[in-house]
Amino acid sequence: MAAAVAARIRHFISLADLTPSELAGLIADAAALKREPVPPDAPLRGRSLAMIFEKPSLRTRVSFEMGMVHLGGHATYLSPAEVGLGRRESVADVARVVSRYVDLVVLRTFAHETTEEFARFSAVPVVNGLSDVSHPCQGLTDIFTIQERKGSAPGIVVAYVGDGNNVCHSLMLAVALAGQTIRVAAPDGYEPQGRTRSAAAAIARGTRATIDVVRDPRDAVRGADVVYTDVWTSMGQEQEYERRRRAFQGYQVNADLLRLAKPDAVVMHDLPAHRGEEITDDVMDGPQSVVFDQAENRLHAQKALVRWLMGVAR
Ligand code: CP
Ligand code: NVA
Repeated sequence: MAAAVAARIRHFISLADLTPSELAGLIADAAALKREPVPPDAPLRGRSLAMIFEKPSLRTRVSFEMGMVHLGGHATYLSPAEVGLGRRESVADVARVVSRYVDLVVLRTFAHETTEEFARFSAVPVVNGLSDVSHPCQGLTDIFTIQERKGSAPGIVVAYVGDGNNVCHSLMLAVALAGQTIRVAAPDGYEPQGRTRSAAAAIARGTRATIDVVRDPRDAVRGADVVYTDVWTSMGQEQEYERRRRAFQGYQVNADLLRLAKPDAVVMHDLPAHRGEEITDDVMDGPQSVVFDQAENRLHAQKALVRWLMGVAR
């Protein structure tokens, strides 16, 4: 629908697509939208977005959809069975067609390359709503939540315990852009991938952030302000469940591990959680947990993102 020149379109495929000041602007706008969720001027009146998902979703789907309602626009959802990206029709052709109808596309794919390919052929901005490599909408929300709870001081330490997966990658990039510290503890063979580590290190050189990957969860959590975990088996890895469950023994966020963090540390999880695996019930439901506030923040952060990508100034 938008007559943008392809080369000038800003996509949101990775947090590395943002500069530190763009991230700071989105965080400020998310906070403003949290204070005033339904702006009276309906800034996205007449605008629309499509969600094309190859995997299930609760938070991502509903928060984008309701975010558009709040901003005066409309969202449509296409389930895995409906589009058949790359099977019923080529990725490029779906991109060419859908971008004639809507102003923005949110994609949730198995292969990250599918989202990259879609973006090359899309005439409107493309948002990565989770791929096997990254989950930037989650990372954006996470850094907003961290700064809401702990501020933006460089001394803030985020500990991530578990799989060096899509959520971990985006959290690393977000913390790097914010100039804070992240310590990732992952078992042998499940560390964050080299490409994301290099990208985070490159950003960190400019922002003076610190990115560490360690083996022992206690080394990550000791003295941390935030303790973060995610599932050991992500969507699409179900056949690896038993092997992963064995590999991640000792990487559970439980009361013993949490005791090593600062007494006022907050516990985060992107959800859905596999209670009793990567996190215990008492920690997830305990006083330090902010997981449901974090889930709510998807709404505020993504509204800021959509407004920015659609070029509708605050
Ligand atoms: N955290 C997250 O992306 O949740 P959904 O998979 O439910 O969208
Ligand atoms: N790492 C998880 C995140 C779900 C929001 C997955 O990819 O399944």
